[in-house]
Amino acid sequence: MTEKTVMKDGLTRRRFLIGAGALATGVLASGVAGCTGSTGSTETAGNNTGNAAEASAIPWQYKKLDVEAVRKRGYDNYYKDGCMYGVAAAIIETLRETTGGPWNTIPMEMFAYGEGGAFGWGTLCGALNGGLAMINLAAGKNADLGNDLMGWYTENPFPSDKHEAYTSFKNQITTVSKSPLCHASVTKWTEAADVRVSSDERKERCAKLTGDTAAKVAELLNKALEGQYTSTFKPSAEYITCMGCHQGKDSTLDSQQGKMNCVSCHEDHTKKS
Ligand code: HEC
Ligand code: HEC
Repeated sequence: MTEKTVMKDGLTRRRFLIGAGALATGVLASGVAGCTGSTGSTETAGNNTGNAAEASAIPWQYKKLDVEAVRKRGYDNYYKDGCMYGVAAAIIETLRETTGGPWNTIPMEMFAYGEGGAFGWGTLCGALNGGLAMINLAAGKNADLGNDLMGWYTENPFPSDKHEAYTSFKNQITTVSKSPLCHASVTKWTEAADVRVSSDERKERCAKLTGDTAAKVAELLNKALEGQYTSTFKPSAEYITCMGCHQGKDSTLDSQQGKMNCVSCHEDHTKKS
């Protein structure tokens, strides 16, 4: 990673180390992780030895996010370094402004690999990958929030119409992926829209999807913050019956790993005549 790309986020490698050092000092002084309010300032630069400080324990301090502002930031950041970067940057940039602390210590470039379902492999949608990482930082290893984000994505018609004010491709066709995979999500949409995967239309669709997913992450975390969170994920009617026989240690067969919609890849053998 070059100094120049790091500078893109207004955080040089040196400032990153100083910020981490300042944070560690704040933690020792206050005894409360993530509540230093440090924005990576150089006030305590004299204490910085140049060694990377210990990572701040999660969950990191989270303040209620403006869902629509996060949506726009996700959209914009998609064009900087892809969908995973887009969602992560939307949340991190916003929390750097409102909370600071450890949110200043994470190099945004680490999320660049997720684009196209991890370097174009079409596996886990990068927007989900980035969103799940943010949930893990803000709320710890939280399966309720994670399942709800994944489940929502698989049944949500993308892209939403909440980007009409600034998009150059208005009123795009929507599709429901039935899958958390980039492969299914992108391919279904390009087929319905009758465009190529490398087209500007498809990129714009994924930019909007990135914004929409960042907004959903913000919405879920906001709810969790207010303590009024209950998980709503349930496999859809199309495949809920499969689960009882095939999925989980209490199922009859416990013979496959996953909560993806089975019938997007397998036939329903229980319906065979
Ligand atoms: C009542 C229990 C039951 C339900 C419900 C059920 N299965 Fe199965 N499934 C089985 C059994 C039993 C086998 C055979 C297992 C073996 O051969 O090891 C099987 C085999 C399979 C196989 C292996 C390939 C094959 O066809 O033999 C697949 C794939 C599969 N099921 C998918 C599904 C999907 C998708 C659903 C839901 C739409 C589903 N199953 C619902 C019991 C069930
Ligand atoms: C993204 C596509 C995909 C999805 C979604 C998916 N599977 Fe599979 N599944 C596969 C592939 C690929 C294999 C391995 C190749 C094979 O044996 O067909 C497999 C294998 C299996 C097998 C073993 C098959 C055998 O021949 O013994 C079972 C059982 C099975 N899946 C059940 C399910 C169930 C139940 C679900 C839903 C909870 C599900 N799968 C979701 C793609 C998928």
